[in-house]
Amino acid sequence: MKALLLLVLTVWLNTQSGSCSPSSSCSYPPSKWCSSMDSAIECGVVKQCLMSNFTRAHQKDGAVEVVLYYESLCPGCRLFLTEVLFPTWLMLNDIMSVGLVPYGNAQEKPDGKKYTYECQHGPQECLGNMIETCIMNMSQLAFPIIFCMESSPDVINNAKTCAGVYDPKLDWGKVMSCVNGDLGNQLMHQNALDTKALSPAHQYVPWVTVNGEHTEELQDKAVSSLFMLVCNLYKGPKTKACGGSQKYFKSYCPNE
Ligand SMILES: *[C@@H]1O[C@H](CO)[C@@H](O)[C@H](O)[C@H]1NC(C)=O
Ligand SMILES: *[C@@H]1O[C@H](CO)[C@@H](O)[C@H](O)[C@H]1NC(C)=O
Repeated sequence: MKALLLLVLTVWLNTQSGSCSPSSSCSYPPSKWCSSMDSAIECGVVKQCLMSNFTRAHQKDGAVEVVLYYESLCPGCRLFLTEVLFPTWLMLNDIMSVGLVPYGNAQEKPDGKKYTYECQHGPQECLGNMIETCIMNMSQLAFPIIFCMESSPDVINNAKTCAGVYDPKLDWGKVMSCVNGDLGNQLMHQNALDTKALSPAHQYVPWVTVNGEHTEELQDKAVSSLFMLVCNLYKGPKTKACGGSQKYFKSYCPNE
């Protein structure tokens, strides 16, 4: 996907300005054009390299990856998702990526070609897990929708309204046919496999991995101060939100 976006951008840039094709004196292979300012100048692709470097920075290379293994009706999971994970992601989404795996302590049993599920908080929780899983497969705005569901008093019955608020183009009929059909079953099986593959195995939910790793220390930091954890782990230039630009915080509107 990243490579495709860059390719599209490059092609677009090439069609936008006349000076884009590498000059004939260029002695670098294409993969090295942007490796330094000198090569970029020699090959006549300075603008393209600046743009592609910029794009790459915004495509979250080096982003801190936080994955939450959870259950749709588990109170601790709902609290972490709505009061920690989502707000942190809103502030830090340019240096952080979030994965959600609704399954947790559910149990899976093969049933012919499909699977049946039992959830810790009953069939309604299995339904919630499934709706959220299908939404993640079908909407770019899954995280705000799931945040809306998890922060509402009735996770399941507000699902459709939440989807309508954040992604009005999402076809709810399609979501429900995913929920009740083979696609949902297959996607939930993937959640089961992902959860079972955790190492160390999860002992409770919410269970957090950071850059693929789970330790007691990481879990504690994620739960108590995810914002600090992500800012500290991110190796690139600090964003405004992490306090990289003091100006950002010193812009006041005086009371006249
Ligand atoms: C693009 O980024 C690389 C790596 O960060 C850097 O070494 C290079 O100088 C940059 N190229 C340009 C043209 O700014
Ligand atoms: C949705 O699920 C299908 C079937 O597993 C998969 O091929 C597809 O890539 C998924 N789409 C997204 C956006 O996750």
